[in-house]
Amino acid sequence: MNSFYKKHIFFCTNQRKDKNKRSCGGEEVNYLRSYMKEKIKASGIKGIRVNTAGCLNRCKKGPLMVIYPEGIWLKVTNKQDIDLIIEEYIKENKLSKKLLISN
Ligand code: FES
Repeated sequence: MNSFYKKHIFFCTNQRKDKNKRSCGGEEVNYLRSYMKEKIKASGIKGIRVNTAGCLNRCKKGPLMVIYPEGIWLKVTNKQDIDLIIEEYIKENKLSKKLLISN
């Protein structure tokens, strides 16, 4: 497969109006997405795209992202998670199981 991006990251930022229903989005997730974008940009790594996404229909496992072309799902809750993804996965193409979401 020939992907346009080396890694295309979809960060669920969906926030439901109904507070009783679980959703990924909110200030913290918006902050984490911006943090990730800035950190990737500052690192000079090319070919990585970080997009927002609406609900990816796995709300109970969030907050989360999915990365293509591999199609791996990751739970992200803080800056250390983002740092780990960038250092291990974006740069080295390896990832510890810590953040992986099972199918
Ligand atoms: S709100 Fe994020 S997967 Fe549904």
